[in-house]
Amino acid sequence: MRILVLDNYEEISKKAALMIASQVMLKPNSVLGLATGDTPLGMYKELITLYNKKEVNFNEVRTFNLDEYYGIDRENPQSYYNYMINNLFNSINVNRKNINVPDGMAMDVEAVCRCYENKIKEVGGIDMQVLGIGGNGHIGFNEPDVNFEAQTHLVNLNAQTIEANSRFFKSIKDVPIKAISMGIKTIMNSKKIILLANGIGKAEAIERAIKGKISPEIPASILQLHNDVTIILDKQAASLL
Ligand code: PGA
Repeated sequence: MRILVLDNYEEISKKAALMIASQVMLKPNSVLGLATGDTPLGMYKELITLYNKKEVNFNEVRTFNLDEYYGIDRENPQSYYNYMINNLFNSINVNRKNINVPDGMAMDVEAVCRCYENKIKEVGGIDMQVLGIGGNGHIGFNEPDVNFEAQTHLVNLNAQTIEANSRFFKSIKDVPIKAISMGIKTIMNSKKIILLANGIGKAEAIERAIKGKISPEIPASILQLHNDVTIILDKQAASLL
């Protein structure tokens, strides 16, 4: 596990964007695992800047998002599909047919999850997976008490996550209580992982994930067992290390 502690959010965003751009330069048809939330927004902006400067080309890249709310359709402004379109895909030359986000309106959830896993396998697995971390130590929507063996599946969001995500909705009652998420096994099968965290609110989760014992209580702690993880932190997120 490599741990980079940088001065501020801008620096971590730039570093992460450069790592992704390098991955794509070395392997133009890279399979990228992407995350949503506040944390990667700066990284996506930096990637768009690099794309506009013609330093990176996404036309062969394939993408798989970590998760999507269940019961929300793609066109809903709160969907993670919509987030990706607005914050990245509309501004780079990724081919729409190469974008994959779990279908939050799936009728047959198990079939959709199986299909998602198969599609990741068919393209040779994820080359580089980007992760944020929840204040409760979740990665993707793999909440505490996680099953480390799970692949893409339907999850119940826990109270802390619903509360944290209510900032994006009119009222906490509007926050979906379920989501489709890649499982820990899916994430751990990625060849490289980069996890970003900033702000004091993430410091305890980061400390427990990196220095604590590996436990389902802190889903991110499993990353200690992965052989190519880079954790990119600002000073606040790293303050308890
Ligand atoms: P955030 O979410 O980037 O909005 O803080 C991270 C997460 O919950 O995984």
